[in-house]
Amino acid sequence: MTERIYLDNSATTPVDAAVLEAMLPALGGVFGNASSVHLFGQEARAVVEEARRAVADLIGADTREVVFTSGGTESNNWALWGTLWGRGRPGDHVVTTRIEHPAVLATCAAMENRGVEVTRVPVDASGRVDPGAVAAAVRERTILVSVMHANNETGIIQPVAEIAEIARKRGVPLHTDAVQSVGKIPVDVKALGVDLLSLSAHKIHGPKGVGALWIRRGTPIAPFLTGGAQERKRRAGTENVPAIAGFGAAARLAAGRLPEMGGRVSALRDRFEQGALGRIPGGRVNGRGPRLPSITNLSFERLEGEAAVIALDLEGVAASTGSACSSGSLEPSHVLRGMGLRPEVVQSSLRFSLGRQNTEGEIDRALDILGKVVERLRTLSRSPRR
Ligand SMILES: Cc1ncc(COP(=O)(O)O)c(C=O)c1O
Repeated sequence: MTERIYLDNSATTPVDAAVLEAMLPALGGVFGNASSVHLFGQEARAVVEEARRAVADLIGADTREVVFTSGGTESNNWALWGTLWGRGRPGDHVVTTRIEHPAVLATCAAMENRGVEVTRVPVDASGRVDPGAVAAAVRERTILVSVMHANNETGIIQPVAEIAEIARKRGVPLHTDAVQSVGKIPVDVKALGVDLLSLSAHKIHGPKGVGALWIRRGTPIAPFLTGGAQERKRRAGTENVPAIAGFGAAARLAAGRLPEMGGRVSALRDRFEQGALGRIPGGRVNGRGPRLPSITNLSFERLEGEAAVIALDLEGVAASTGSACSSGSLEPSHVLRGMGLRPEVVQSSLRFSLGRQNTEGEIDRALDILGKVVERLRTLSRSPRR
C-alpha cells in the first residue's frame, strides 16, 4: 500500500522526533514535582523553566509573562473568563468576531448566559475583520476585545496590530488566539501590541494537551484554575513536565524553521492550490489577502465537501472540511458563512493544511487523487436517483 498523505496539519501535527526525545527524561528519571524543594524537584523545575524560555523566545516575550496551560482551549477560556473575573461586573461587554475558534465563540456564548453582552464583529468576503468595525463595537463597558491572529480554516491573517492600537486608545485589553499563527509566521507580542496571546504545542509538532497564555505584565486577569501556588500563583496544578518539555523543544525548532515555512512549505501549498485549480474545473480559493503559508481552503462546484473528505481518506489523503472540532458536527463552516459565501460554496469546501514533513511527491500524488475523487463524486451526483 502506498504511504498515506497527511494534509490536515491545522488540526494537529506529527510530534517531531526531537520533541519526543526531549520529553523522554521527564517520563523517566526526571519525575520530580517541579514545586518540590529537593533535587528531584529542582531537576523538573529546570526543565519547565528551559521550556518557558523557548516559548517566550518564540513570541518575543519576557519569560515571566508565559504561563503554561493544558492547550489553546484553556488559554482562550482563561483569557475570557479570567478577564471577566478580574475586572468584570454584570452588564459588561466583550467584542469578538464571527470567525473565532469555538474555544472563544462557545465561551462568549456561556458568558452571555451569565449576563455579559457580546458583540461579534463580521468579516468581509475576503475573510478579514475590519478594524473600523471593531472600533465601532467598543463601548464604555467593554472589558475585552478578542480577535484571532490567523484563522484556522482559511489561514487569513487578521489586522491584529491595527486593532491593538484601537484597543489601547480605548483602554481595553486585547486578546489574540495565535494558536494557528505561532510557528507558521513570525509572531512578536510587542509588534502585535496585544495584552493576552494563546498558544498551543500540538500545532507546532509538539505534544497535545499543553499550551500557554502569554499575559502582558499588569493585565488584569484572575486565575482560571485555583489551588496550589504553581505558575506564580496564576495557574494552579502540578505542572505537566513531560508535555512542557516537549512544548519547549517544539518552540525552539519552530523558531528556527520559520524561513522554511515561509519558503518551501508556502511553495508546496501554492503548487497544490494552483495544481488543483488548474486541473479541476469550477474551483475557487476561499479567503483573500495575507494568509498563513500552510493553508488553502478550496471550494469545487457540485461537490459535497464531507463526501470528498471521506473519499479522499479512502484513497489515503487526509484533509478536512473545516476545523477538526466542527467537522463531525455536520454544521456548515461558521467561518465561510461569516464571509458571506453562498451555502453551496460552503458545502463544497475543503481545507488542505500542509506541514514541513510534506514533500513535492506527496503534493503531486494528492493532486492526482483529488482530481479523480472530484470527478467521480460529480459523476455520481449527476446520475439519476433510483
Ligand atoms: C485557532 C484555534 N484556537 C484554539 C484551538 C484549540 O487548541 P487546543 O487544541 O490546544 O485546545 C485550535 C485548535 O484547533 C485552533 O485552531
